[in-house]
Amino acid sequence: MLKTDLIKSDCPILKREAKNHPLVYLDNAATSQKPRQVIEAIADYYANHNANVHRGLHTLSEEATEMYEDARRVVAGFIGATDLSEVIFTTGTTESLNRVAFTWALFNLQEGDSILLTDIEHHSNLIPWQIVAKQTGAKLEYIEIGSDDTGNIILEKFKDKLSSLSGKVKLVCFSQASNVLGTILPVKEISKAAHAVGALVCIDGAQAVPHIPVNVQSLDCDFYAFSGHKMLGPTGIGVLWARKNLLESMEPFIYGGGMIDVVTLNDSTWAVLPEKLEAGTPHIAGAIGLSRAVKYLRNLDMKNIREHEVIMNTYALNKLSTIEGLKILGPADAQERTGLIAFSVDGIHSHDLAAVLDTVGVAVRSGHHCCMPLHKKLNISSSTRASFYIYNNTDDIDRLVEGIQKAIKILGKNKLKNLEY
Ligand SMILES: Cc1ncc(COP(=O)(O)O)c(C=O)c1O
Repeated sequence: MLKTDLIKSDCPILKREAKNHPLVYLDNAATSQKPRQVIEAIADYYANHNANVHRGLHTLSEEATEMYEDARRVVAGFIGATDLSEVIFTTGTTESLNRVAFTWALFNLQEGDSILLTDIEHHSNLIPWQIVAKQTGAKLEYIEIGSDDTGNIILEKFKDKLSSLSGKVKLVCFSQASNVLGTILPVKEISKAAHAVGALVCIDGAQAVPHIPVNVQSLDCDFYAFSGHKMLGPTGIGVLWARKNLLESMEPFIYGGGMIDVVTLNDSTWAVLPEKLEAGTPHIAGAIGLSRAVKYLRNLDMKNIREHEVIMNTYALNKLSTIEGLKILGPADAQERTGLIAFSVDGIHSHDLAAVLDTVGVAVRSGHHCCMPLHKKLNISSSTRASFYIYNNTDDIDRLVEGIQKAIKILGKNKLKNLEY
């Protein structure tokens, strides 16, 4: 069991009020809050060790380099990467996926090839593939995921589609956990099926790494992308993990200082990994903050974090399902989903609902959550999403439910019927 009160007291922002109510922060799928340990690690770097990495022979540069490379070791250990040069620091999931698209896929796909996605992907794991398809002539194929599909159903759909595309599909890309439905996909089994037909597997782990134990070796994927800011770390830092032979075959994404071996006026050669793929001054403080965040999560133990979220899901699913007119998106089983619940309420626009919740200090997200095609398929323009993390408890869910009931009283379908945005 997580001691949510202690974790809450570690996060300074969770002591504040919003609209004269104690803040209940349920927008963790967008970004998590930061414990003082992470904030202090970043401040300590700037106050005591700040220097550029890899290039200096002076004390501060040596310290900064050691801290930056130690962060790579900590992150590698957290996701089960066995080779440090397979961990590339990026600005986040979006950049990591763009790197796979524009420095692997663009060079390896051609007309006649297919990229297999699902129809529930975040725009960050959709748009880069649309551009790659346009530029290479490769075709986009989709697995259709129903709003209450379980992992088993999804696996069967993947297997069927992969065998129908055998010989054509070169890359399979999907999020390990959906940021709207919460559905957790069976990566290991899908990877096995994809490899059997010669396809590589690229995973968007933005909503998985903060919430469930992830080991890239046992998932048997080829590329894995995630962001630091959704897992207690700072913004602007994320990771692309990939198999070394793939990273070695990939062109740099950005060219310049720090990534070269020899430069002449007419040509250049590249440094070895990981420097080859980290041009320019990296986000040193970001990597150090992410490393401290990982240590914080590791101390709690990812298994306990997952257990806590299943408890929260179970409680929230029960409570929310008693509200008339509220429709929960995603699987009914708390075990099948990560710690978020998106829903729609009859006759109330998600932005109105979120605005009423804000008046009682409850922060949720409303809109399409960067998943327009999924909302179109569900026949709704938007949804409201409450997403939990390690500091949330059942009192927070009670405050959410009270807020929704208040919104229904104020805005209920008989009162404001046709409010459109
Ligand atoms: C499933 C998923 N993929 C990708 C992203 C993009 O992450 P970032 O904005 O940190 O690059 C998000 C962010 O919400 C997400 O939920």
